[in-house]
Amino acid sequence: MTLRSVVQGIGHYLPDRIVPNSEFEKTLETSDEWIRTRSGIERRHFAADGQPTSDLAVRAARAALTNAGLVADDIDGIVVATSTPDLTFPSVATMVQKELGMTRGFGFDIQAVCAGFIYALTTANALILSGQAQRVLVIGAETFSRIMDWTDRSTCVLFGDGAGALVLAAEEGTGTSADRGILSSDLNSDGRYRDMLYVDGGVSTTGEAGKLRMQGNPLFRQAVEKLASTAEAALEKIGLTGADVDWIVPHQANIRIIQGTAKKLGLPMDRVIVTVQDHGNTSAASIPLALSVGVASGKIKQGDLLLAEAIGGGLAWGAVALRW
Ligand SMILES: CC(C)(COP(=O)(O)OP(=O)(O)OC[C@H]1O[C@@H](n2cnc3c(N)ncnc32)[C@H](O)[C@@H]1OP(=O)(O)O)[C@@H](O)C(=O)NCCC(=O)NCCS
Repeated sequence: MTLRSVVQGIGHYLPDRIVPNSEFEKTLETSDEWIRTRSGIERRHFAADGQPTSDLAVRAARAALTNAGLVADDIDGIVVATSTPDLTFPSVATMVQKELGMTRGFGFDIQAVCAGFIYALTTANALILSGQAQRVLVIGAETFSRIMDWTDRSTCVLFGDGAGALVLAAEEGTGTSADRGILSSDLNSDGRYRDMLYVDGGVSTTGEAGKLRMQGNPLFRQAVEKLASTAEAALEKIGLTGADVDWIVPHQANIRIIQGTAKKLGLPMDRVIVTVQDHGNTSAASIPLALSVGVASGKIKQGDLLLAEAIGGGLAWGAVALRW
């Protein structure tokens, strides 16, 4: 008998305010056409003034619990992937814990920027397999609109706000790749790429949150290469290949990166969950958002083999193979 971390429920939340590309035409030298063709993004959601990341996270968490038919007290731990927390501390996870009325268990945040949800899933899986927890709420929640330089057209049109959450729970499997749940993961980082994507502020340097800075073009080239190799590494660990994958659930940064990675893996675009047109890049929230939308639309079905992959600041990147 092999212990597996199986997804028992999923949900998401997007803030009410939808911002179409045309809105940027009013203040920047840009166009809907440029944004659409270069990134695939058509619109994104922005959190309301005064609406913090924890608010988005709580709403996504409630949706996931409802979907799983569980209540907060059924959960042993909360892991939130975010790079845009409400405060320097405490963690967003403990804020979610309080709002859900959960008085036991643990909560902490993980910061691996756009790869955050892959890191959070891998960590939650390890906690479950080691017997630390039976059920973990894994959340990706971001308000990247708060760290945009609104005068920088090469970054501010690309990002959005949102949150997605899922409940991972211990179940017994057979130890083969036919099991439901997380089957493998592959994590990587390389700090030499720091300047490719970073925020120019922080607690121990400027004392301010700072704004996002990005070298889009070199990052683009790194992304396709590294995403394809981490995806292949995750599959190799369980003796599978791209041909076995039912759905790629990629980090939603740019449709051209998504297409390039799918091509390298030998998969057609009709086996890829794509939400970048509606959400933009929501960093650590993008994979759980795409998963939740993919499930709600009826595309992702129980038993499907999913491959989630992401890359972001650090650089940090990775992939998780799981059977739904
Ligand atoms: C940012 C990105 C969309 C730009 O696309 P690109 O094809 O690489 O475009 P370039 O950066 O080469 O820029 C091409 C031109 O468009 C211009 N441009 C940039 N942003 C623009 C905008 N919003 N509107 C109009 N023109 C824009 C640039 O100034 C440049 O002009 P120049 O040739 O006169 O210097 C793309 O590089 C990308 O998505 N990179 C990866 C981003 C990413 O994945 N980030 C997160 C990882 S988590």
